[in-house]
Amino acid sequence: MHDVMPEQQDLWHRLEAAVKAAHDSFGYRRVRTPVLEHEDLFLRTVGGESDIVTKELFSVDARGKRKVCMRPEGTVPAVRALANLGLLRDKKRKRRVWYMGPMFRRERPQRGRLRQFHQFGAELMGVAGFEADVEIVLLCAAIWRELGIADRLELVVNNLGGLEERRAYAEELRGYLASREGSLSATDRMRVNANPLRVLDSKEEGIDEVLAEAPAMSKHIGDKSQRHFDSFLGFLDDNGIDHREDDRLVRGLEYYTLTVFEWIPKGDTRRQSAVCGGGRYDGLAEALGSDPCPGTGMAAGVERILEMMDGGTERSVPDVYIGMTGQVYEDKASRIRLLEMSEQLRKAGFSVETCMTRVKISLFFQLANESGARLAALVGKREQARKEISIKSMATGVQDDPVPQDELVDRVKSMLKLGEGN
Ligand code: HAM
Repeated sequence: MHDVMPEQQDLWHRLEAAVKAAHDSFGYRRVRTPVLEHEDLFLRTVGGESDIVTKELFSVDARGKRKVCMRPEGTVPAVRALANLGLLRDKKRKRRVWYMGPMFRRERPQRGRLRQFHQFGAELMGVAGFEADVEIVLLCAAIWRELGIADRLELVVNNLGGLEERRAYAEELRGYLASREGSLSATDRMRVNANPLRVLDSKEEGIDEVLAEAPAMSKHIGDKSQRHFDSFLGFLDDNGIDHREDDRLVRGLEYYTLTVFEWIPKGDTRRQSAVCGGGRYDGLAEALGSDPCPGTGMAAGVERILEMMDGGTERSVPDVYIGMTGQVYEDKASRIRLLEMSEQLRKAGFSVETCMTRVKISLFFQLANESGARLAALVGKREQARKEISIKSMATGVQDDPVPQDELVDRVKSMLKLGEGN
């Protein structure tokens, strides 16, 4: 959990604007679902044995019969919201939604793992074909390009097969892992019974040797599932979208079928800090009690992406920093005039920061400089006596003769239009 202070806001705004623009350009519409959800929704779908549910769910004592928790992710809430409104029934109408907001997982806090973090994500409901998986990957790629991080990320993909295929493979893998129990860590031993596929994703020491001889998932993938995945890969190949296949990519949530993927920082071969993950979840709607409806989607961790973005963004700065020095500021009528002038400038379309301290002239210009304003407008004793105001361009340092206060707006207009303030 951490605060996002003003200095970081411009980066956040840049990310938020890029995310919105990309979703708009693919025809996705925003949903905002509550932070609090019924706990059983996640137990039924994310997987009763997944880390998220067994260790990481923030339960809330809501004093009701049905337990409530803070949402750990956005897919289940988005699908629930669409299902509640009956929007998954019409097979001809595909649903495209996106979201952005805080998520909560009771992780052991460490770099890149927060207990309150933010995700943006998109879900495409109703399309069973590979083209939906492609669209989601293209959407991600468009966002990375817009944020200037495309060449720092690598796409890793895998095929988990249909539900039955995955189950059959899990059984075979369980048998194999049980035979190698002595070589597994305590954490992995627990996973063998609960969800053996998670062992493939393990980062525990010594696991690579055990898995080197493990049965391969590909043996259990049927023709239909293979064709789906091949079409997906074919599109990526033909359209120059670099990717790497990794049959150990299984994802931490249990609702996935067929295509799964992660975007990881290049060079992070153990996939420890994926910035984005997603895939297909054709059984999820049904598990939520809705009509069956295929779905595919992605979600990305905002904090992890911000770390990759270049900080050198434009800071939003006021056009004008305005104030009064010394004794002039002591006078209530002057302070009222200061507020009025600030407001006149704003109504004319300028952004204004009003200096609300009694300052000497040197400190006034120091504060104006810190604000980043393009112009500094100042009423000192001499100006006050003549109802004038001095305006200085902070970039050029040029300060012309004072102008009547009534002409402030016009003068600021001409100075900023002429680019003098730049
Ligand atoms: P996920 O892989 O659990 O997938 O999370 C997606 C992304 O959220 C991760 O790649 C990571 O960047 C970020 N993230 C997850 N946990 C944390 C944390 N504790 N601290 C910081 N960042 C974190 C999902 O949540 C799925 N709902 C994605 C999806 C959408 N699948 C289909 N549609």
